[in-house]
Amino acid sequence: MVFVKRATGVILTTLALSLTTGAAPGAADPCAKFAGQQFVVPADALTCLKSFPFNETLRQNVLTNIARVFDFFTFEDFYLNSPAPFQESTTNIRADIARINRTTFATDYDFNRAVYDFTTQLNDGHTRWFPNCYTSFQNLLPTPVVTLEENGVQNVFVAPDSVEFVNLLGVNYTSHFDQIGFNFRRFAGAKVLSIEGQDPYAYADFIAKTASGNYLDHGVRVNSVFSSYRISGTDFSQRFGDISGPAFPDKNFLTMTLIPVNSKKSETVQVPFLASYVGAPFTDRASFWTANCAANDETNGVNLRNSGVSAKRATQKQARAVIIDKTPANGVGLPSQFQPRLPQTDGSTGVIKSYILPDNKTGVMFVGSFEGDFNQFQTDTVAAIDQFKASGVSRLLIDLTNNGGGFVCLGQFLHQYLAGAKIGYPGFVSTSRANPLAQKIVAADIALGVTGQISFYAPDNWAFLNDTPQPVTFNYNTPSAPFKINGVSDPTSQRFH
Ligand SMILES: *[C@@H]1O[C@H](CO)[C@@H](O)[C@H](O)[C@H]1NC(C)=O
Ligand SMILES: *[C@@H]1O[C@H](CO)[C@@H](O)[C@H](O)[C@H]1NC(C)=O
Ligand SMILES: *[C@@H]1O[C@H](CO)[C@@H](O)[C@H](O)[C@H]1NC(C)=O
Ligand SMILES: *[C@@H]1O[C@H](CO)[C@@H](O)[C@H](O)[C@H]1NC(C)=O
Repeated sequence: MVFVKRATGVILTTLALSLTTGAAPGAADPCAKFAGQQFVVPADALTCLKSFPFNETLRQNVLTNIARVFDFFTFEDFYLNSPAPFQESTTNIRADIARINRTTFATDYDFNRAVYDFTTQLNDGHTRWFPNCYTSFQNLLPTPVVTLEENGVQNVFVAPDSVEFVNLLGVNYTSHFDQIGFNFRRFAGAKVLSIEGQDPYAYADFIAKTASGNYLDHGVRVNSVFSSYRISGTDFSQRFGDISGPAFPDKNFLTMTLIPVNSKKSETVQVPFLASYVGAPFTDRASFWTANCAANDETNGVNLRNSGVSAKRATQKQARAVIIDKTPANGVGLPSQFQPRLPQTDGSTGVIKSYILPDNKTGVMFVGSFEGDFNQFQTDTVAAIDQFKASGVSRLLIDLTNNGGGFVCLGQFLHQYLAGAKIGYPGFVSTSRANPLAQKIVAADIALGVTGQISFYAPDNWAFLNDTPQPVTFNYNTPSAPFKINGVSDPTSQRFH
């Protein structure tokens, strides 16, 4: 009986909808509408994302956690009054959290967007908020823009390789534009006169200021708004850039005034975005939430002390500082005809690709990342430099385009190796915050006998200034050292390395 009743109810609901909206059955579920599709019209994607109501319990959970994480954030008080030329990043983090705590939000998406925008504004690639739920799309423009020099003058263009590049997204992407009758191929290499009614560089500045995040330096953020090459894994790939590949499907099109190649006439076109779905598989709104949004047993991490030995590291934790680029579809490969044609030197199978230019004097090391295989990075550097030396190379270009960081020690290694120094301790000293939370963690690590195998804070993860490792019982936070920044007392640990 129950079964029949439910079935009847479903049919009635569908009928009622069909009568009022004429929509197909199932259209009432804004996520089911595009379940299983690789690419989604942005308006549809946003309707699904905005279908989850604001929930005060979730706000309190999220903001409480975020407030506690900022207790770890070394630069909190520096942000109160960032020095030139970084004033764009000045913000009072606690005031921002309080503002988001009292703002009225219509949907859970709007709340998460506020947190995302606030952390993005810190312009620190290591301190971001990426709610899996809402970073499950990337909006992609079929006319990605680059900045190029022509006769000594810089201008913005649609990437000359945009057709080959966009084709790498597959026919599911390109056929959408064929279906709606938008010929993006016609604009490859077009000169861009304006974007959204603004000078293209003014628009680039606007995106760098409001959407890019990741780099404290405004100029580096301007670079990241344009499409450019980079290393993804150990291969060359191309980023869409923050103008043409933003993280949220909240724009349906970009208005561009451009002059196509072989034309003298400028045209103003509305270039449609198409969003790429990069989240977990789902079939409807409820399963979208379960797969991408709902907290699970691992959301707040796992207790390494209770888990098996296998979860622990064999060695101490290596310091890493890597930009998190939450846009996997960003890098779909660099079209083969645009890969460097010169033969690669030895030591080019990992994140470093090295070449000798035709003048036989200039070596180029494209250091795409400081991530990947920690040891291979070092052997690759040595192999490339050995070949440069054997070939009579006398000058070196190091290309760090889109290098998002990685192991801090590998940056130091490269610097030292090129300077001819012996590899070893570079004399880098540091401190950590010694606020009440840090004090409690170090004291607890010592009391529990926790080592650098599972905790970053454990004393044996650090060394005294004479390079002797600290014993696991040494509390480097007591006594703390007084430190005042922007008028706020923010004591630090003793200096260590
Ligand atoms: C196109 O998308 C469908 C899912 O909608 C997928 O099954 C198929 O593999 C995709 N085709 C290509 C060429 O990527
Ligand atoms: C809000 O979220 C919490 C935690 O997921 C959940 O238990 C609660 O039912 C939600 N409240 C509403 C009104 O949906
Ligand atoms: C948000 O505001 C409420 C009400 O004033 C307060 O109880 C709560 O502690 C605040 N949450 C955070 C994370 O600051
Ligand atoms: C560079 O070396 C190659 C291979 O030895 C040689 O063919 C070429 O002529 C050299 N180029 C210059 C500019 O000396």
